[in-house]
Amino acid sequence: MTVRVPAKVNLQLGVGPLRDDGYHDLVNVFHAVSLFDEVTAVPAREPRVTVEAAPDAQVAIQDVPVDGGNLALRAARLLAGRLGVEPDVELRIRKAIPVAGGMAGGSADAAAALLACARLWDADPDAAGLPELAAEIGSDVPFALLGGTAVGLGRGERLTPVETSGTFHWVFATADGGLSTPAVYAECDRLREAGGEAAPWPRASEELMKSLAGGDARALGAALANDLQPAALMLRPSLRRTLDAGRELGALGALVSGSGPTTAFLAGSAGHAADLAAALAQEGVARQVVRAHGPVPGATVV
Ligand code: C5P
Repeated sequence: MTVRVPAKVNLQLGVGPLRDDGYHDLVNVFHAVSLFDEVTAVPAREPRVTVEAAPDAQVAIQDVPVDGGNLALRAARLLAGRLGVEPDVELRIRKAIPVAGGMAGGSADAAAALLACARLWDADPDAAGLPELAAEIGSDVPFALLGGTAVGLGRGERLTPVETSGTFHWVFATADGGLSTPAVYAECDRLREAGGEAAPWPRASEELMKSLAGGDARALGAALANDLQPAALMLRPSLRRTLDAGRELGALGALVSGSGPTTAFLAGSAGHAADLAAALAQEGVARQVVRAHGPVPGATVV
């Protein structure tokens, strides 16, 4: 049973105050893009996970845990517990989504594992309560099941689909080494405190919603916003050069993807994305430059 699952970029990541449970209230506009991991679930004597890189993908698979800390394995165990079956499954993960890159690769693999194991164990995905299980595993996992474009409230797990028209074309610049999501959120809190800034209560951007509904890439480029970006740039100052290079090369918008360190650039067309990707690769400011389009569906059995 093989499931294909997309990466995400955050079109708006509005970070509110730190809550008592250690999470932040968010307005998180997720957008699924055509950069896919695949997870294959096969019956095994005991739960285990293997990881390989997809052809042509320069992903740091050595940084993916293959012990109990692996999110896909946790997902399989959680679902098995819910269904009352043994979690005896081997999960073969084939990665193209950057590891710890701010594109929710680990969350995507968890979503894919939930769907693959539900099918393998003959569970009705609706009856098994996959979205609720997904939210237990991580804030970004429910969106990886849903796909498309959606606003996430709460810690990002309460999703409402967003109306979009047409296709948007993206270029992603990956970076060497990951960034820890908790560390980036903590740095965001620290910067706000040091600046004497109270955390604002985030609101969904009307300009962003209009640009998505109208399929207007130029307006979308201008509306992209990520409250974690100053923190990611503080922890990884070299990303500023990558963002500047993309803007100078004509990107309609440029931002850090989620908690980084992947950076995202919006192009006006597929041709523009190809030109932008080639020019960015020439600049030598990225580990790898990849193209993708969105929105695309969430986790899907292949
Ligand atoms: O939900 P997930 O386990 O993916 O979150 C990873 C970390 O990111 C959390 O432990 C927390 O530090 C931070 N986070 C947050 N507020 C959110 C989502 C994540 O502070 N809404």
